[in-house]
Parts: sequence; structure tokens; C-alpha cells
Amino acid sequence: MKRPPGRRGRKRGGYIKLLTLTLLMAGFVYIVFIALTQPERLIPGDAPAFAEAGVQEAGGSEGGAAETDAAGAPDGAVNAPEPGSGTPDLSGGGADLFLEGEAVGVENIFTQFAYYEPDKLRSYENFQSRRSELDAGEVVWMVNAGLDGAFYENAEVVSGGNPLLINPYHRLPEDFVPEELAYIDESGRQATPETVEAFYRLRDAARGEGYDLAVQSAYRTLDYQRGLYERESGDGAVARPAYSEHHTGRALDLWGPDGLLDESGPTPTGQWVARHAHEFGFIVRYTAENQAVTGYIYEPWHITYVGTAIAGEMRSGGYGSLEEYVAKNPQAGLTQ
Ligand code: DAL
Ligand code: ZN
Repeated sequence: MKRPPGRRGRKRGGYIKLLTLTLLMAGFVYIVFIALTQPERLIPGDAPAFAEAGVQEAGGSEGGAAETDAAGAPDGAVNAPEPGSGTPDLSGGGADLFLEGEAVGVENIFTQFAYYEPDKLRSYENFQSRRSELDAGEVVWMVNAGLDGAFYENAEVVSGGNPLLINPYHRLPEDFVPEELAYIDESGRQATPETVEAFYRLRDAARGEGYDLAVQSAYRTLDYQRGLYERESGDGAVARPAYSEHHTGRALDLWGPDGLLDESGPTPTGQWVARHAHEFGFIVRYTAENQAVTGYIYEPWHITYVGTAIAGEMRSGGYGSLEEYVAKNPQAGLTQ
């Protein structure tokens, strides 16, 4: 006859039931977890469903994956493993997906920048290998600005828009004349009406703080610039004709009683201009730190009118040059 379980037997039976229940619950939780996070593992077959469909992985970077060329191959991907060399990494950002040994979508270290341009990927890679001291973001905007190419070769012809970027990569048409020019006081010098008005405000503010400002040079014709340039022994201080911002009527060379620069750096007047120009819509166009970008020596006297919105944005965003601003903000584009 079967004896009813004693106290110890009942206790052991209780443990076994509890253990079984716990294991069942753990199994259930695991299945629900897999179903939610990796549903493809519950589907028969060994390839992820979206990879089979050739769909790029969601959750990539802002800049999007690199474009593929007509043959379906990536346009030179720095991070791409050899096709067919292993399982795709599906763990998140930077995933490379392969379909029958071919990359179908590749991200690279440059795509994270909003101003990344897919068709310049090879240029980014080449420039980075030549300039290893630059970080990826610098490589992208500098290539966008044309800095991987030589000054004055194949310059683009531009004539309007704001900002109007004129530099060794962007020149004005030979017959360019600003739509409107106004005189600055009785000086005989001219600039666009907005530039003249902004200069008056700048000058008044400077005067209020004890600094005197005058305009030494403003709008220049191409012929006048040609004369200046021919007296120079090379590039760097004076722009070539058609490459000078002075043709736009938006650039002014300032003069102050202490000059704006001496051997020890910017004079007090030069420092005041550097601190306040943006409040009136001007930028100090040729800074000491950006000579390799602008192509010109440090000119604390040369200011360019871009309006208070852009000048303020450049100041608060820490942009070192108009080249950097335009390269990172392609919507602030150029008018052909
Ligand atoms: N000095 C500036 C670069 C010009 O000639 O336009
Ligand atoms: Zn100038």
C-alpha cells in the first residue's frame, strides 16, 4: 500500500513543482524576447529576411549609405570587408550588407556629416590619405570647398546669391558689375547700398567706444584690380582680377588711426573690428588661422558684408572662414 507522503516528501514535491514552473516561465520569456528582437530566427531558413530582399538596414547614419554605382559596387568603401569574407554585422550603425558576395549598402566614416556628398567619396579618401592630421569632418568640408584641388584651376564662375563666395575656386564673370552701388560719404568710394548702410552703423558703434574707422578701399573694377595684381610679385596678398571680393561691392578695406595691424598683431582698432563686425553683418574675411583655406594673407582690415544672420551664425557656430560655412551649408549656395 502506498504511504501518503510525509512532511519531507511534500516539501520536496513542492520544490520540484516550483522549479518546473520557473523553467517554463523562463522559456516563455526567452521565446517572447526572441520574437520581439530577432523575429527572423523564428522563421525557417538561415538568411535575414531583409538582407535577402536586398533592403538596406534601417537605422543608418544621417548622411545615408553611400550610393552604389551602376554595377552595384560601392564607390570605394573604407570600412567594407572583402565581399564574401564573413557574416554581415547587423549590430547597428555602420552595418555592411552583402548579397551573393556583393556589397549592397555601405557606410563610411564620412556619412555621419550632414554635408557629406556621396559622389565625393573617393576624393574624401584620397584627401584623407594625403592629410592624415585632419579628422573626418574636416576632410569632408575641405573637399566640398575644393581644397583638395589647386587654386585658380577650373574656377567656377559665380555672380550672385548670399553669401557670394569669391575665392581662388570661384570667380566672377569678366563683365561683372554689381546691380547697385552707393557712395560712401564724400569719399568717392562705392559699395552696395546694404554694405554702405552697415558700414555707417559699424562706424558709429566704433566711434561710441573711442575708435575711428574709415574706408580705404571698396568696390573695384576688374581693370583696377588688374593694375594692383600686376604690381604684386605673386598670389597671396592681392587677388587676381575677377577673383577679388572687391568687385562685388560687398568688401571694404578699413583704416584706423592706429592702422589695424602692426608687428605685434591686430591693433586695438583691429581687435575691436574683429569682436564687433558680425553685429553689423560683416565678417573679417582673411584671418590669420585660415590663410591656407582662403588663399590670402591675414588682412584684419578686409571685411565682407554677408548680413547679420550669416555673420551671427558664423560667429556662434565657430566657423573659421566663409569657405567652411558654405561647404557645410550647401543650401547657402552660389548663383551661377
Ligand atoms: N586683398 C584681397 C585678397 C583682394 O585683393 O581682393
Ligand atoms: Zn580688401
